[in-house]
Amino acid sequence: MTSFWLATRPIDATGTPLSAGESADVVVVGAGLTGVVTAALLARSGRRVALLEARGVGAVATGNTTAKASLLQGALFSGIRRRHSAEVLRAYADANRAGQDWLAGFLATHGVPYQRRTAWTYATDRDGIGRLEGERAAAVEAGLPVVRDDATGLPFPVAGAIRLDDQLQFHPTMALDALLAEFTSCGGVLHLGCRLRRLRVGARVALHTSGGDLMADQVVLATGTPVADRGGHFAVLEPQRSYALAAEVPGELPQGMYLSIDQPTRSLRTTPAVTGDGDVLLVGGNGHVVGRAADTRHRVDDLDDWTRRWFPGAEVTHRWSAQDYAPAAGLPLVGGLPWTHGRVFVATGYHKWGMTNAVAAGLRLLAQLDGGSHPGWASVLGSATDVTGWPTAARLTGGVGIEAVRGWFGGEVRSVADPPAEGQGVVGRRGLRPVAVSTVEGRTCAVSAVCTHLGGVVTWNEAERSWDCPLHGSRFTADGRVLEGPATTDLPGVERG
Ligand SMILES: Cc1cc2nc3c(=O)[nH]c(=O)nc-3n(C[C@H](O)[C@H](O)[C@H](O)COP(=O)(O)OP(=O)(O)OC[C@H]3O[C@@H](n4cnc5c(N)ncnc54)[C@H](O)[C@@H]3O)c2cc1C
Ligand code: FES
Repeated sequence: MTSFWLATRPIDATGTPLSAGESADVVVVGAGLTGVVTAALLARSGRRVALLEARGVGAVATGNTTAKASLLQGALFSGIRRRHSAEVLRAYADANRAGQDWLAGFLATHGVPYQRRTAWTYATDRDGIGRLEGERAAAVEAGLPVVRDDATGLPFPVAGAIRLDDQLQFHPTMALDALLAEFTSCGGVLHLGCRLRRLRVGARVALHTSGGDLMADQVVLATGTPVADRGGHFAVLEPQRSYALAAEVPGELPQGMYLSIDQPTRSLRTTPAVTGDGDVLLVGGNGHVVGRAADTRHRVDDLDDWTRRWFPGAEVTHRWSAQDYAPAAGLPLVGGLPWTHGRVFVATGYHKWGMTNAVAAGLRLLAQLDGGSHPGWASVLGSATDVTGWPTAARLTGGVGIEAVRGWFGGEVRSVADPPAEGQGVVGRRGLRPVAVSTVEGRTCAVSAVCTHLGGVVTWNEAERSWDCPLHGSRFTADGRVLEGPATTDLPGVERG
């Protein structure tokens, strides 16, 4: 499954191998939007910056997003207002506005195309109307001119909708390419194929990676959920995976950016076709907590069926999937990790609204690392150590606990002696030890089923042919290599017999 973005504009950055004894002022780990923006801002400000990436630039969430940079964000504003003061809500809106403005300015100056669009949140049944109204009220309290307007132009019935004009959509890998060019032109160095495995914080920070070791004065973990994190921030983030597709559709398409407030979630937007001839429709939805859905294949097919139902003649050209992290306290986690004496920083927890939040995180980290004055919104939003979400965190941790017990002690004890059918994976046991066996493209692999992060038992993701951990969202290939999440080492291979 390759996204429309990575298929139409792959990023062919080569990077530089790590050399022995390498050192930087700041090492940014992770080359998604957070990492590339932060690295570019820091390099621009005169720091010696190294950007480490385990896979490819944009390979994880940013290359698989739907790239709406909008301040109308589903039901997020009312969710934040329920837990926080009006001042915090306004700071969140200001942060996102600052992120959106910076991004629009950058794209315009660097000739990267983007489109201004009206953002809509709509309800498909009457029950959603109250939530829409709550969201409109919270958005207005945050200073956004959100209005009720049911004339969405969508081809299916909606019970009601709210809208915010003049939002932004773009092609995320084109944007990453331009940001990366900015980074390297300011002297930044990109290292690909370097997975951070461990950090040691002393007078400086020692980073141990799969591509070699290096030293830095400060480190930014822009890895989605934080890796090598003794602060346990992964425990207050819920990993949420969802699906997306691109389709060629005959005739005119609705030109807004849309998100349903009710379930199943549907996210829609258009993007210019690469042929330059008309638009392509993008549809997203059918999300779930990572590793906790047995029907991933069905969710992909269901999105196809829904698209063909409401957009007759649609031909699906690309299907993909990605995950982002929902923070327990409702606000992104951006700032210094408490145990690191101002040396290690994180930026995560965007709740699927990273296009504006990642840029805001970069701006905030620039101010924090420079020791200069923060923008007003940054001081109000607080730091990564915010504990106001602990009651919700307890709920997240409760779900994790149930999954941990289910993985180790639940389910049937299956034999792993026979190879599973093509495209299938099963978890069986050797003694007490869970073993994960799969067959992909005729190759049967047996690996430990115990996640190398903190011991969750992985489950098979049929749609993506991967092993996914239901505890904190680590994912591994069929033969055990880390794809994403907080794990930093592969699942070891085991004998099947
Ligand atoms: C389906 C979907 C649709 C979305 N749509 C929207 C949208 O329309 N609008 C919006 O605002 N937001 C959207 N989002 C959210 C947005 O895409 C993300 O919040 C954003 O891309 C996160 O960027 P990031 O740089 O923090 O993470 P990522 O892009 O995931 O980058 C993290 C990078 O770190 C690397 N990495 C991880 N661990 C290590 C390690 N140990 N060592 C080295 N490198 C490592 C990874 O390989 C990866 O490249 C969506 C998310 C999903 C899942
Ligand atoms: S991701 Fe934490 S135990 Fe697997």
